[in-house]
Amino acid sequence: MDMYVIEGGQPLRGTVTVSGSKNACLPLLCAALLADGMTVLENVPHLRDVYSMVDLLEHLNVKVIFRNGRMVIDSRTFDTEWVPYELMRKMRASMYAFGPIIARRKRAAVSKPGGCNIGSRPIDLHLRGFEALGVQIIERKGYIHAAHNGLRGCEMVLSGKNGPSVGATCNVLMAAVLAEGTTIIRGAAREPEVQELINFLTAMGADIEGINTNTLTIRGVDRLHPVQWKVTPDRIEAATFGIAALITGGDLLIKHCDPTAMTASLWAMREWGAQIDHMDEETIRVRRGEDRGPLPLDLVTEPYPGLATDIQPAFVALLGLTPGASSVRETIYRERFMHVDELNRLGACMRVDGDSAHILGVDRYEGAAVMSSDLRAGAALVLAALAAEGESQVRRIYHIERGYEKFEQKLAAVGARIRRKVEVEEDPGFEAPIFTPAEELPSEVDTFSDAETQIESRAAGC
Ligand code: EPZ
Repeated sequence: MDMYVIEGGQPLRGTVTVSGSKNACLPLLCAALLADGMTVLENVPHLRDVYSMVDLLEHLNVKVIFRNGRMVIDSRTFDTEWVPYELMRKMRASMYAFGPIIARRKRAAVSKPGGCNIGSRPIDLHLRGFEALGVQIIERKGYIHAAHNGLRGCEMVLSGKNGPSVGATCNVLMAAVLAEGTTIIRGAAREPEVQELINFLTAMGADIEGINTNTLTIRGVDRLHPVQWKVTPDRIEAATFGIAALITGGDLLIKHCDPTAMTASLWAMREWGAQIDHMDEETIRVRRGEDRGPLPLDLVTEPYPGLATDIQPAFVALLGLTPGASSVRETIYRERFMHVDELNRLGACMRVDGDSAHILGVDRYEGAAVMSSDLRAGAALVLAALAAEGESQVRRIYHIERGYEKFEQKLAAVGARIRRKVEVEEDPGFEAPIFTPAEELPSEVDTFSDAETQIESRAAGC
């Protein structure tokens, strides 16, 4: 397992280019299954999660060629309805295959995705939407078995106790476009990634009204055709670089981004005291302002257009170095604060109370060894380490590589002292612990290998 070794204290200066959006392209890869033929996607990031989705498509007998950000998906040989646990456990977004499979093949048997380090991530809203379209669903032995005799349009509400669901909206939408009659989805998510899917499906021939609202009206069509498409820039990656400039006291020109999709993040940065200049439609310059700040903030994550939960950990890292008392309330994934204890290892002064982090700004972070628990927590730790005095080691960077393309190369190009190192298990330096005898293990864990599988899937399942 590799780690980043970071020598902090270097202001980042220069130009960074944002990659295509991971969360926008994953549903598009699956939506390509809805048409018979060759879909071409440009600006696809080379990321672990994208490779996992390619594995899944290949398992469905779809042919994929992926080179230099260009992906060709040939769905003419798509003939499989089941997806095993081995493919579903790698990431939650594998669930996006369900909608196209059920729409095209009339039945599906898909392993339920696993648990996750950012908190509970149920799929009840997905299933509720498919049932409303006339799909019969049985859950057995960790699999969802589904079948129908024709999808029928209907009216449904897809919002849950934490608000609209990006995943459920995209998934059900991909089936509804081929249903008979009209489907109305109320409580739909309106994140830019959902808008991207709506535009993509519309280009394929779908009839969808209500983009960027919480109510979508979908008039089913008989068939869709393949298209060529350029994936939108990654708004979370762009905001991460913005915070990298602020936390290190640097000055970054962030190219190939979509500032209109980042309004809440840019607003929070300005409130903090950032100076943000819009150089052109897809370039912003981010640095600390000269007149005011840095100022503490009280932030709340919300569904779009509110502040995205995926940038919350990076803001927590920034506020940890901001004089005064800040707070961050998480309303999407109420337990998504695994980074807080790790930031405290770097010298931060913060604590979690229920769905909020309370932060007292400190003067400096000090380099230390820290552990990524998920993609965005890992990125936040890298930002903190870039600002810390001395050397830090950020471990388990495979999480970060799920969602940030060439992260260390991009950071190094603007002055970060960051390098990759193969992680070697440390000598614990004390007498090895005595293992629990087998008979004392909890009953649900039969063997050590079972336990390992459970731990591994929990770590991989975001
Ligand atoms: C997407 O996950 C993103 N993933 C997440 O980014 C992001 O954090 C999340 O949306 C929120 O913006 C991808 O796009 C691949 P949701 P998704 O369904 O679709 C609850 C990252 O780091 N809910 O919008 O799975 C759920 O528990 C990842 O890139 C239900 O209750 O999220 C949450 O509280 C992490 N029942 C809320 O809705 C359901 O059936 C929003 O989740 C589904 C969701």
